This record gives sequence, structure tokens and C-alpha cells, in this order.
Amino acid sequence: MKSQYVNELKRGQVVKESFVLSKKTIKEKKDGGAYAVLEFSDRSGSIEGIAWDNTVESLSTIGVGDIVFISGNVNEYNDRLQIVVNSAHRIADEDVDPRDFLPQSEADIDRVMAEIDTFRARIKNRFLAKLLALFFEDDAFVKNFSTAPAAKRVHHAYIGGLAVHTLHVLQLTEHVQKVYPNINTDLLITAGILHDVGKIDEYSYSKKLDVTTAGRMLGHIMIGYKAIADKIATIPQFPEILKLKLLHMIVSHHGEFEWGSPKPPMFLEALILHFVDNLDAKAEMMIDELRKNKNHGKDWSDYHPFLEREIFLKEEM
Ligand SMILES: [Fe+2]
Ligand SMILES: [Fe+2]
Repeated sequence: MKSQYVNELKRGQVVKESFVLSKKTIKEKKDGGAYAVLEFSDRSGSIEGIAWDNTVESLSTIGVGDIVFISGNVNEYNDRLQIVVNSAHRIADEDVDPRDFLPQSEADIDRVMAEIDTFRARIKNRFLAKLLALFFEDDAFVKNFSTAPAAKRVHHAYIGGLAVHTLHVLQLTEHVQKVYPNINTDLLITAGILHDVGKIDEYSYSKKLDVTTAGRMLGHIMIGYKAIADKIATIPQFPEILKLKLLHMIVSHHGEFEWGSPKPPMFLEALILHFVDNLDAKAEMMIDELRKNKNHGKDWSDYHPFLEREIFLKEEM
């Protein structure tokens, strides 16, 4: 954990802390020397920085997006706080906790993961239980699953977003199953847990949320399909139809070709997974608009490019 966050910095304070270097411009002074105009960020916000002379040299090997440990002082310049940097050096990504630098879930992720585990524990089909165990008994996978966002911007775009979205999908399917009791619960839970596992590799989330090269080229449906198919291949006698149904649910969960699914849902569990996935994503977008516009006194949100509409914000009747 960091001990100094951007939103707590005060004028006159000494800073010895790590931040993401979020902007860097090297400029020339009139006398020929150089100075650097900088910006540092963490999960709480960002602050300008400035560095002179020798310090500028040490910044030459540090790029935008790198984590940097700086020492300096907080000054006020043009009514804004600014860090005057005395020294700076780059820190390896492995040496920092991404939670310090990225937007966080409001939910307790350990509890969310524990709840996902209670759904997993209900599965009776031994092949599906084994498949999930191959994922969730791997510590590195669990760490990534509980850290990954569910999106870069659109919905659940924060650390832990994938786990929160996955739990919502499972909770929604639980209600749907009460209405349609003859559906295959084991299959629906397994596909619910795994439907977005590809997001672990679709996004990078160590310093800032971004889409990886694999994410850009393949997307989470293809990445997830391969990860699941590879694990199934290691389980002896995994039934062929069960494999096809589960993989179909992964590739069809976006519901339509234009939304990234190569096939539409072709049986009931696949159809239900698509609709609850879509419901949670869109409900979260609306909730986000309400949250962002709270206390702004507006009746309508700006046009939402993904929902393709404005959202009515007034909550009172
Ligand atoms: Fe998805
Ligand atoms: Fe999803």
C-alpha cells in the first residue's frame, strides 16, 4: 500500500512516493538547460509536476505509463498544486500493487470471490466441477480473476469488475431458474462463471486499464474459448455434447453477430446466459450514469454512445 495519495497532498508537503507517470514533456529553458512538465497519477487522481536540470536527465529513461518513485515538494503554481521533483527512478511493475493506481470496486472482492465459490460448490456434474477446479485451484488464475476489470470503459471498468459482474450474472441466473426449473443448473452456473474469463487476458490492469494486443486481435470470447477448450482437453472422457454446449455458451453469450458472437444462442441455457449478461452490463451503465450525475441537478444525462440514448436522471416521483 502507498502511504501518500494524490488527493491528500497539501502545499508544503514532502513527497516520497510512487505514482504512474501519466504525462511527460521535455522543454528547453531560455539559458539552454532543460526542464520537464509532468503529471503523476494514482487511484485517487492526478497532479502536475515539474523537474529541472539534473532530474530531467534521470527522467529520460522513464516513459509515460511507467511507475516512478519520486521525492520532491508540493508547491502551488497558478492556484494549482504541483510537485517539484528532486529525484525520480522507475519501479518494476511486479513491485507495485495495482490497487494503488487503478479505480477500485466498491464491493469487498474477497467476499465476492467467496460467493462465486458457493455457486461453484453446488455443481454436481463431476466433469464441470473438475473443469472449474482446474481454473479456481490455480492461485495465479484466482489472483487475475479477482483483479481484472470487466471493461476498459463501458461497464464494471475497475479493478475487481470481472468478479463483480460474474457474481451478478450468477445471481440473476438463480432467479431465472426459479421461473424455468427444468434448465440445466450445472451447465448454466459453469458457463456463468467462465463466460468472461477471456477478459483476464483481454485487458491489462497493472498500471492503467487498457486492451492488450491479444485483446485487440482476438477479443475475450476467442481467448476464453481457447482457455476453456484447452482445460477440457486435459480431462479424460469429458462428454462431447457437454463440451459443445459449454463452448457454444461462451461463443454465443454476446447474443448477436454485431455484438461479437459468431453464433446466436441455440438452446435455452445459452439464451438465458446472454440475456442476464446483457441485463447486468446495461443496468450497470445506467447506474453509473446516475452516480456520475448525482447532485448535478440535471434531468437528463448526456447522450450515452453505448446505450444510444439519454438517461432520465430524476429519481423522485
Ligand atoms: Fe462478454
Ligand atoms: Fe459478461
